[in-house]
Amino acid sequence: MSLQQQIDLSRLPQHIAIIMDGNGRWAKAQGKNRVFGHTEGVKSVRRITETCAHLGIPYLTLYAFSTENWGRPPAEVAALMELLVSSLRKEIKSLNEQGIRLNTIGDLQALPPACVRELQAGIATTHQNQRLTLSLALSYSSRWEITKAVQQIARDALKGKIHPNEINEQLISQYLTTHNLPDPELLIRTSGEQRISNYLLWQIAYTELYFTDKYWPEFDEEELYKAIIDYQQRDRRFGKLATP
Ligand code: IPE
Ligand code: IPE
Ligand code: MG
Repeated sequence: MSLQQQIDLSRLPQHIAIIMDGNGRWAKAQGKNRVFGHTEGVKSVRRITETCAHLGIPYLTLYAFSTENWGRPPAEVAALMELLVSSLRKEIKSLNEQGIRLNTIGDLQALPPACVRELQAGIATTHQNQRLTLSLALSYSSRWEITKAVQQIARDALKGKIHPNEINEQLISQYLTTHNLPDPELLIRTSGEQRISNYLLWQIAYTELYFTDKYWPEFDEEELYKAIIDYQQRDRRFGKLATP
């Protein structure tokens, strides 16, 4: 039986989040520069997005650029931003034809204006699509997001829009940039690192974590199938007892 056939389509995760890591190390292993790794990484983004759409997974959230990544050398940051613009220009039409809706989470105001323009155009073009919501985390970090949410909750409390006693888990979730997304059931990180790197800390409270040694540019359909099969073999207890 092929890996794809081993997937139980009735028990798919509804939301997969991915920390796309290892572009630089993959490029180095090929004797190429880091930017080549990022360019190849875009091919994995396309492959994995299309595979999720084909499988019928409605939400995919990709960590593309973290708040901390601003601390990389300016030339690498500039190359990543240019790659974002050129990839959006190339891919939006095809995303739209496949019924994929583009969404972003993160501090968009921190991005160069050309990126913001392409993102807004892509979001507007695809906003009616319902097959798969592809969220790109850009200038995103979880602590940034939670800090912003706490500031806004405090402002709304001061204005009398909410009472402190009304602040519960649902309300906090509504103030996060992921307010329109369900929590991920599966989080994948490539490249062998086993850390979260400031990604979706609130949202992954009960998410299943899957780590693979594959670098992001080599993460293909088969690797995604393996992650989903692994997820489907887990017993998600949510603090309760195993289902008999
Ligand atoms: C992930 O690959 C992409 C981004 C963080 C933008 P890296 O650039 O982190 O690659 P490694 O981890 O250095 O190999
Ligand atoms: C996490 O990867 C961020 C993205 C994939 C965008 P990093 O390569 O930046 O994370 P660390 O530095 O290894 O934790
Ligand atoms: Mg990395």
